[in-house]
Order: sequence, then structure tokens, then C-alpha cells
Amino acid sequence: MITLALSKGRIFDETLPLLARAGIEVAEDPNTSRKLILATNQPDVRVVLVRATDVPTYVEYGGADLGVAGLDTLIEHTAQWGQGLTGGGLYRPLDLGIARCRVSVAVPEGFDYRAAVRQGSRLRVATKYTAIARDFFAEKGVHVDLIKLYGSMELAPLTGLADAIVDLVSTGNTLKANHLVEVERIMDISSRLVVNPAALKLKRERIRSLIDAMAAAISERECQA
Ligand code: PRP
Repeated sequence: MITLALSKGRIFDETLPLLARAGIEVAEDPNTSRKLILATNQPDVRVVLVRATDVPTYVEYGGADLGVAGLDTLIEHTAQWGQGLTGGGLYRPLDLGIARCRVSVAVPEGFDYRAAVRQGSRLRVATKYTAIARDFFAEKGVHVDLIKLYGSMELAPLTGLADAIVDLVSTGNTLKANHLVEVERIMDISSRLVVNPAALKLKRERIRSLIDAMAAAISERECQA
């Protein structure tokens, strides 16, 4: 049995066409079913639905053989756990080019970010992405107090909890709706296929053919674009 860990939402939706190219159709719709293990048309392949931040953990410890996770999630996971308890880490064979977005710094409209940075003020930055934010501001030599949040980052500057946020931006609509502006782009994000190294050894042929089919789907998509 091959187990693939996915998170609901964009990653799930955008992984489906790549799986289809590998001949795998997920049998159930996670939006209507409460099931966490979804069968596929292939008797030896199943999908498990986990929180996005748990995908690397499932794959690393063998709860799943493969998974799809955003680069943001992978960076934060590695910063927290290093090579993990198993020491095996994660094999990352493919950039799937899906769920594209960016990690950016945003501040309330009217907040003079450049001046604050230039004057060497200590910025209070709220984020879920503490490793990415810490590295980014350290590199720039900007002093920051990081405030760890688990969601709704946009609220932090509006309530006086922080001066700025570091968050994912896709369309920019969430920032706009909350009167925030993007002042620096930290990095571009897309989702990666991650594989458990031990599973790759044990189930080499099946997993390799899956990786190859997904790689072919990506290059076809790029040729069409
Ligand atoms: C992300 C991010 C923003 C939003 C940005 O949240 O935290 O809130 O998307 O998208 P936009 O630029 O298209 O408006 P997500 O929906 O991933 O959920 P989260 O709050 O769990 O991070």
C-alpha cells in the first residue's frame, strides 16, 4: 500500500490533476465526506488528509510514504525539527509548481516601514513563519521581536499587537480587505512532493513510477503554458 498525505484546499485540489496523470483518481470528495482516509481507483494507493503543517511529520515518521507540502511549511518544519528524530529527513524530488504564493512583510496603510527599518527601531512582527521571518530580518540587520501566531495574522497590526506581519500572500485580497500593504517580498512559495527515504527504498518501483508520472504531468503543463 502507498499512502499519500495531502491537506484539504488548494494543495488537494491542485494535486488531483497531477495524480490523474499517474492514473490515480481519488474516490471521494473531502468537501462532502468526513473521512480522513480516502480510497483511490488504485487498490494499492490511498490518500490521508492531514493539516498542512503535519504533512512533513507524517511523511518523515512513515505515517505516509509521500506527501505534498508548501515550501513555507517545509522550511518551518526543518527549522523546528532539523533532520527529525529518525535522522532520515525527507526526500524532495519535485517542485510541483502548485499552490503558488509568496511570503511577504505587510504593514498597516500609513505605517512608514522604510523609516522604521532605517532608524533601527525594534519592529514587532507577528507571524506563523518564525524561522523564515527570523532569517530574513537577521540578514537585513533589522531588530525584531517575533510574536508567534497560528492564524489570522492580519489582525495583529490592527489591534496593536504588532507593527508588521509576515504572511502568505496570493491574490493580495486579504491584505487589502484589512487595510494592510505588502512592503517586502521575502520568497516565492510553491508546493513540493516529499517522500519518506525508507519507503522509497522498500517500495522503489511503485513510488518511482508515481514520481515520474507527476514529473511528466508538470512538464506537459509547462509546455502548454
Ligand atoms: C493565507 C494567508 C492569508 C491568505 C492570503 O491563509 O494566511 O490569510 O491566505 O491569500 P490572498 O492573498 O489570496 O488573500 P490560508 O487561506 O492559507 O489559511 P491560514 O489562515 O490557515 O493560513
